[in-house]
Amino acid sequence: MEVFNTNEVQVPSEAKYDRKAELEAFDETKAGVKGLVDAGVTKVPRIFVQPSKSEDSTIHDSNKKFSFPIIDLEGIKEDPIKRKKIVQEVGHASETWGFFQVINHGIPNHVLDEMKDGVIRFFEQDTEVKKQWYTRDFTKEFMFNSNFDLFGAPVTNWRDTFSATVAPIPPNPQELPSVCRDILLEYTNQVMKLGDTLFELLSEAIGLEPNHFKDIGCAEGLMALGHYYPACPQPELTLGTSKHADNDFLTVLLQDNIGGLQVLHQNHWVDVPPTSGALVVNMGDILQLISNDKLKSVDHRVLANKVGPRVSLACFFMSNFVPTQRMYGPIKELISEHNPPKYRETTIKEFTTYFNNKGLDGTSTLLHFRL
Ligand code: OGA
Ligand code: NI
Repeated sequence: MEVFNTNEVQVPSEAKYDRKAELEAFDETKAGVKGLVDAGVTKVPRIFVQPSKSEDSTIHDSNKKFSFPIIDLEGIKEDPIKRKKIVQEVGHASETWGFFQVINHGIPNHVLDEMKDGVIRFFEQDTEVKKQWYTRDFTKEFMFNSNFDLFGAPVTNWRDTFSATVAPIPPNPQELPSVCRDILLEYTNQVMKLGDTLFELLSEAIGLEPNHFKDIGCAEGLMALGHYYPACPQPELTLGTSKHADNDFLTVLLQDNIGGLQVLHQNHWVDVPPTSGALVVNMGDILQLISNDKLKSVDHRVLANKVGPRVSLACFFMSNFVPTQRMYGPIKELISEHNPPKYRETTIKEFTTYFNNKGLDGTSTLLHFRL
């Protein structure tokens, strides 16, 4: 149907097109967004087009006003005075931004570079070979697809993703693609060590014993998501990743130097500046839940870009891969008569299932668990 976009004519709703059929056709290519770009698309197909931004009340022009927190972990193991200062910085950033970058985190630059190259190698390998990994079977140790929530989310994102579950049960190396297998295992091994440190700092920052988060299993499970954001011919019409909060305990993100990741801070979309050698750390919803809102899981998104591809590797500390019956609710030590629990207890399985079914629809997962 032709749409005449004048002031007098009522514009027919976008929902009129057969969205489901177009999603199915896209999914069946098994080539993702990169496949469209390789085929030479010059217009963003309508499954990717964001609804008009008129209802978006956030402000977009304000990067100068805020400086995104950056924390230097140098000396954290040896110097108790430095450590105390770092704990304070981590606490402040986590309670206000929910996000910070770390430098001198112990993972060498060459490992970071090789990890980004590994993501590129996976997505830029021969399409026919890559297609063999394409699946929506969430029980697979390694999964490649475009938009995990393709059939559930209101809009499709300009992004392809692989996910690899690496802990607590180490994957069978044969189940990982050879083009990125070694670096994925090496990098995630180092992220697990950094995770131990970060969970200690976060526990201390909110007045718990340093091992508290580790003792309740927060640092045990890890899933690595490799994202590939192809160059986009009309970046103003779509997003690389829709607004969302992460559904895990904690995320450690490696991004390249292109930029596009933004965090919602005081109702402003603030850029996370690409910083050589740095890693981005953010709290997930489950950490907010168990800290009874002390640690903030903050909404973020990724803009599409004329320049690309942009790649990132997001490591999610979460433990939905082993069927544990452990209940997670606001930690007893943090609640009192004046600070009663804000959430009901839940299992990680229940939390993740709810998130996955909902997809990145712009709504809060936590709200569903709020008392
Ligand atoms: C995510 C995410 C941001 C990025 O994986 O949840 O927010 O820069 N990724 O890819
Ligand atoms: Ni995220």
